[in-house]
Amino acid sequence: MFQDVSQRADRATVSITIDGVIHQVPEGYTVAAALLATGRNASRSTLVSGQSRGPYCLMGVCYECLVEVDGIPNRQGCMTEVRDGMAIRRQQGVGVVGQATEQQEVGDGR
Ligand code: FES
Repeated sequence: MFQDVSQRADRATVSITIDGVIHQVPEGYTVAAALLATGRNASRSTLVSGQSRGPYCLMGVCYECLVEVDGIPNRQGCMTEVRDGMAIRRQQGVGVVGQATEQQEVGDGR
């Protein structure tokens, strides 16, 4: 049912940055998987206490995996597949919702 794509002989990799550091990760990984594979258990910190939070369910339910992807905050890392050139930043507190909405509207063409 599940397949570890990192063990495939024909695996392709993509180049991403996490907090400004370049990493090569297997194509097909999610952002959450890329964070975990590169030794980062936390994807964000909470707004109130600053406590670290990280991917938990890995299936889009818990929202513990929120990250900034290409400048857009509050993206679910477990539901977002990496692509070449993607810039991922671990999120501090809550993302700026107004900024994200404006960027998403531009990106979606709405
Ligand atoms: S890890 Fe639960 S929603 Fe992403």
